[in-house]
Amino acid sequence: MALSKNRFGLFFFNFTKKTHIMLSKNIETALNKQIRIEAESSQTYLSMACWAEVHGLEGIAQFMYTQSDEERAHMLKLVKYVNERGGHAQITDLKAPKTSYSTFKEMFETLYNHEIFVSESINELVHITFEEKDYATHNFLQWYVAEQIEEEATAKSILDKINLIGDDKGGLYLFDRDIQQLTVTSSIAINPK
Ligand SMILES: [Fe+2]
Ligand SMILES: [Fe+2]
Repeated sequence: MALSKNRFGLFFFNFTKKTHIMLSKNIETALNKQIRIEAESSQTYLSMACWAEVHGLEGIAQFMYTQSDEERAHMLKLVKYVNERGGHAQITDLKAPKTSYSTFKEMFETLYNHEIFVSESINELVHITFEEKDYATHNFLQWYVAEQIEEEATAKSILDKINLIGDDKGGLYLFDRDIQQLTVTSSIAINPK
């Protein structure tokens, strides 16, 4: 909001004029790329939720539905930021995710590798903000840096558990129940009362 003079020489508050520096084209393009990655992550986890659900893995399905929602929230946060900073968030077509997995272990390996890929993408984005001297966007992205540390750690600890279970069916049953508990805890963390 800025104080402007109208044609009668009177001062008024101009609510539309942006007083902060607009996003550079480079940053806008890089943020739009990340919007697409978060949207594709959301679709990937939604597809994993479906695969788990039709295979009777209720807990894993719930976990994946929650992950999918979280990725959509990550995408929306970026969308709002780009539009508020004078850019234009681009909603585009997305790469279709895989629809089936040979084992649930393979599915969680895919999730873990995907989170590593997202972390690398966030790191690259942070690097670009330094090059462009855009410290506001640099600051905004710190939330994503912290989030990726957490997501990688969660995916890694799940994979460790899966490796302990091996082919044990009873273990899989307990794991499915455990992961349901993890979903309840993480949704409390997202929506604190
Ligand atoms: Fe994300
Ligand atoms: Fe993620």
